[in-house]
Amino acid sequence: MDGNGRWAEARGQIRIKGHQAGAQAVRSIIEAAMRHGISILTLYAFSSENWKRPATEVKALMQLLGTALKEHARELNEHQVRMRVVGDHSALSPALQRSIAAVEELTANNTGMILNIAINYGARPELLQAVRTLAAEVAAGRLDPGQISEGELTQRLYVPDDVDLLIRTGGEFRLSNFLLWQCAYAEIYVSPVLWPDFDEAELIKALRFYAGRERRFGMISAQVQAQQCAKDD
Ligand code: IPE
Ligand code: MG
Repeated sequence: MDGNGRWAEARGQIRIKGHQAGAQAVRSIIEAAMRHGISILTLYAFSSENWKRPATEVKALMQLLGTALKEHARELNEHQVRMRVVGDHSALSPALQRSIAAVEELTANNTGMILNIAINYGARPELLQAVRTLAAEVAAGRLDPGQISEGELTQRLYVPDDVDLLIRTGGEFRLSNFLLWQCAYAEIYVSPVLWPDFDEAELIKALRFYAGRERRFGMISAQVQAQQCAKDD
């Protein structure tokens, strides 16, 4: 979700106003994603590198996250959304950690869309903690190094799901440490639209782009088509 700062600056407003507008966009995109049958939506809200921003902006972002979690918990629950906050919680304030635990617990048994909010998330720290966990299991004699497969590593990530479609707003062509392992075969859609302006119509453009992609996973086109025919039969 990129472009909040530029959105505000273009209006002569402080960056925090952009983050507030961005929070509104989050709400409408969650609703739109549910309407369009998305099964897992992961929103990159705050990266492990975002702590480097000015302290006032970090504070405002943390407040906004806390308020949003509390405000929307009940409604998300009513919509059967299962919410998970992914990333390293330990650096977050105790109050925010409590809000996260509450909403995760409230929605844990829901059966609708999985909503991952990445807070203090970075793909490299995520991979590091997974590797450390594996190493500890090996050291304890519970796991043989030969058993370490892609699946075993994936299970120890914060997000154990492959990304099908990666949407980056704000026109930047980079991954910024987002789900590096899970994006191995992601289709990448870069939108020039700044996040506060990203609405359902923009989401539909991204979904149309995705629908038009041929996902070959290393195979050739004829093989993919043969697989598709077999499935349709
Ligand atoms: C939002 O956009 C990303 C967050 C960390 C919430 P930015 O704040 O990076 O916006 P730009 O890139 O400065 O426009
Ligand atoms: Mg940015």
